[in-house]
Amino acid sequence: MSSQPTATSARGLVDAPEPDISIYMGPDDLMRQLREDAVAGLTAASKSIPSKWFYDEYGSGLFDQITRLPEYYLTRAESEILGDRAGAIAELTGAETLIELGSGTSEKTRLLLDAARRAGHLRRIVPFDVDEATLTVAAEELGLMYPEVEITGIVGDFERHLDAVALSGRKLVILLGSTIGNLSPHERARLLEDLSNNLNPGDSFLLGVDLVKPVGDIEAAYNDSAGISAEFNLNILRVLNRQLDGDFNLNRFEHVAVFDPESEQMKMWLRSTTRQEVALRAIDLRTTFDESELLHTEISANFRRLGIERELSLAGLKPAYWWTDRQDRFGLSLSTKQ
Ligand code: AVJ
Repeated sequence: MSSQPTATSARGLVDAPEPDISIYMGPDDLMRQLREDAVAGLTAASKSIPSKWFYDEYGSGLFDQITRLPEYYLTRAESEILGDRAGAIAELTGAETLIELGSGTSEKTRLLLDAARRAGHLRRIVPFDVDEATLTVAAEELGLMYPEVEITGIVGDFERHLDAVALSGRKLVILLGSTIGNLSPHERARLLEDLSNNLNPGDSFLLGVDLVKPVGDIEAAYNDSAGISAEFNLNILRVLNRQLDGDFNLNRFEHVAVFDPESEQMKMWLRSTTRQEVALRAIDLRTTFDESELLHTEISANFRRLGIERELSLAGLKPAYWWTDRQDRFGLSLSTKQ
């Protein structure tokens, strides 16, 4: 056998095999949902648009940049825990199939995949994301890095398509980065219950959550000095303009991100800097923004161990392990389906 150079990227070195990808949410489905969300959110007395619409290809790329910002401690804190605990997680779960919800670029996941491969059980990786372009690149790269493992990507919305994870064999489902913090408490309960219903007894769930901490640290993470968080927030208007033939003027909205101590959530809005009319021609929608009117775009909840473990238990997921980084900024919870 001739020795091949080791591929480290899907680009350039070797041809990536076509990844196997199942589309649970195709372009038509996406458009229908975006239309519904835009109508409901922009005609309401207080305007909002769900944060999942940040993640087109450009938005996913911006989030990737956010993870490397000096102020955005979440990714580094979580990677620190994964670096320390990946071996234990692989041994404890004995996972044959690793399913990552909201996988994005799957970068941090490699710590876990390497450990699972060393543990010798890993047979299949299932990245699951709303953005087909991002998922395809991630699946190709995974295919190159783990050629002996089956890669089955899923393009879907994890609030609607979790039946896609009802696979056979010992499973580990992971939801990292405090992505669960974007959901309201009610939506979280539904997600955890839905997930629990699609797991078999003995399957595992690894959940990453941002922890309550001094307000200044959290607010800085969502108001970085390079302005990437602002660009990311504004991208939702770009998505609306492109998909729904809209005329949002991005220069007339500004990024606002504030911690609400009562709900222990970061809240993000776009604030209209003038009184202005906006049209989304594809859905025949016209609306007026008053000067300083807010369009709510995201919540990122902070968690406490007791609270999130209670939520897991209520869904039938038994909390088994809890790890934090050395500065107690971020938590990883490993639970088992009862
Ligand atoms: C990817 C959802 C975890 O809420 O911290 C980053 C997205 N929003 N900066 C988060 C985000 C603003 C991020 N998650």
